[in-house]
Amino acid sequence: MSATRSDFRQPVGIFDSGLGGLTVLSALRARLPRENFVYFADTRFLPYGHRSEAFIQTRSRKIALALVARGAKAVLIACNTATSAAAEVVRETVRVPVVALEPAVKPAAALTKTGVVGVLATVRTLSSGRFQRLVRDHAGAIRVIAQPCPGLADAIEAEGAMSARVNALLDEYIPPLVAAGADVVVLGCTHYPWVRAAIAARLPKDAHIVDTGEAVACQVEHRLRSESHLGGQGHLTLATSGNAHSVRETIIGLSGLSLPVESWRI
Ligand code: DGL
Repeated sequence: MSATRSDFRQPVGIFDSGLGGLTVLSALRARLPRENFVYFADTRFLPYGHRSEAFIQTRSRKIALALVARGAKAVLIACNTATSAAAEVVRETVRVPVVALEPAVKPAAALTKTGVVGVLATVRTLSSGRFQRLVRDHAGAIRVIAQPCPGLADAIEAEGAMSARVNALLDEYIPPLVAAGADVVVLGCTHYPWVRAAIAARLPKDAHIVDTGEAVACQVEHRLRSESHLGGQGHLTLATSGNAHSVRETIIGLSGLSLPVESWRI
């Protein structure tokens, strides 16, 4: 059931545990304004960060199939946690191109002057074999400090990017990186760009923050172009497994984007 040349107007399907992937979607829409996108937030099961690999694989498989059933010509896993647990499973499940993302350790290693890089991500991402391999293969002599951030993704959605809860968590998670001399911090979870300014405010002025939005947008474009699948009318469909009304309100609060949100029972 792989996409054919005639269906280039079909959407690119994107998913995340929640609304973190919207930070990737915004880089994609800036790069590919004519593409159609369908974005699914698995809000009912947010956060993925502490869930078992098997659970995330089951959800990812179901979501990828649902996106393809609704016409997705490609699937983007806009979630580091789902990538670490389920990228292979998704690739085995659907026959359209699958693009996944992972923490930007390689560019961070090229950027650091102190030789210390901090990575903020979920417990699941940082404990994965995939992350260990990424560090082994691309960090070389660089010291990588992996900082798990339990509670941060869900606090951003439940209480807002500037909430007291988010600030308290950042006060816990960022200082150890600064104390260790990290001059580059990798946002290894797609939710964290929502609090980029609050993270920057806790780092030395000359520190760099690296995320994956741009690089992934570039990869999706390359993939669609190489398969002659580029094109569309710039439509965006939003959907969730959670409460569509409250997800819509959260999206407005985070991004200002005011669009209907569909409820999918998957
Ligand atoms: N946005 C997800 C990521 O990139 C994870 C958030 C969560 O569900 O724990 O890892």
